[in-house]
Amino acid sequence: MRVKKAEFKGSYVDIESLPASGLPEIALAGRSNVGKSSLINCLANRRNLALTSSTPGKTRTINYYLFDDAWFLVDLPGYGYAKVSQAERKRWSLLIEKYLKERRQLKGVVQVVDIRHHPTETDKLMSEWLGYHQIPRTVVATKADKIARGKWKTQLAAIQRELRLSDPPLCFSSLTGEGRDELVRAIGEMVGI
Ligand code: GTP
Ligand code: MG
Repeated sequence: MRVKKAEFKGSYVDIESLPASGLPEIALAGRSNVGKSSLINCLANRRNLALTSSTPGKTRTINYYLFDDAWFLVDLPGYGYAKVSQAERKRWSLLIEKYLKERRQLKGVVQVVDIRHHPTETDKLMSEWLGYHQIPRTVVATKADKIARGKWKTQLAAIQRELRLSDPPLCFSSLTGEGRDELVRAIGEMVGI
């Protein structure tokens, strides 16, 4: 698979209004501020297709990006963001859970973690949950440019162990494009094109 073009399709606040096109979907899951929206821009080779921010909680709706008229990359609100109300957080987590559980077009999830840190409890829960529901998944350790190359391997091994993965996560940086080709390939396999 190659990425030639990408466009914003829309923002949605409930499952019922999601696009009904039936095209395959790949969703991005990860804690707030980890770099999900930046990863979309990196894959799309566009600077501002998805809105990013140094302040967590930027993406608050389910955002759809259409790639090559063939599949959607779906940006979900980040989890674990403390500054929104308990009620709003509850609404997000129910929305995310419902989407991941019920969306028939969903072909896989890209779970995004920060290469510099131990996975959070919520990362672990998400990982277990995806495994339990047998949702195909690629784990990406992003912001690799923020640590020395020499540290990549140990960090990836630690994340693999803590999330109990059969393979190390994919080493990625939205800033440098490290791992981009591999991620496109992994997504292609999940989408089936
Ligand atoms: P929410 O929408 O709040 O869930 O956050 P998000 O996961 O979409 O994160 P976003 O892409 O907005 O990035 C958060 C911050 O991290 C921004 O300041 C980005 O510029 C920065 N960032 C994201 N990815 C990378 C990366 O690979 N390298 C570096 N150096 N910075 C990154
Ligand atoms: Mg975002």
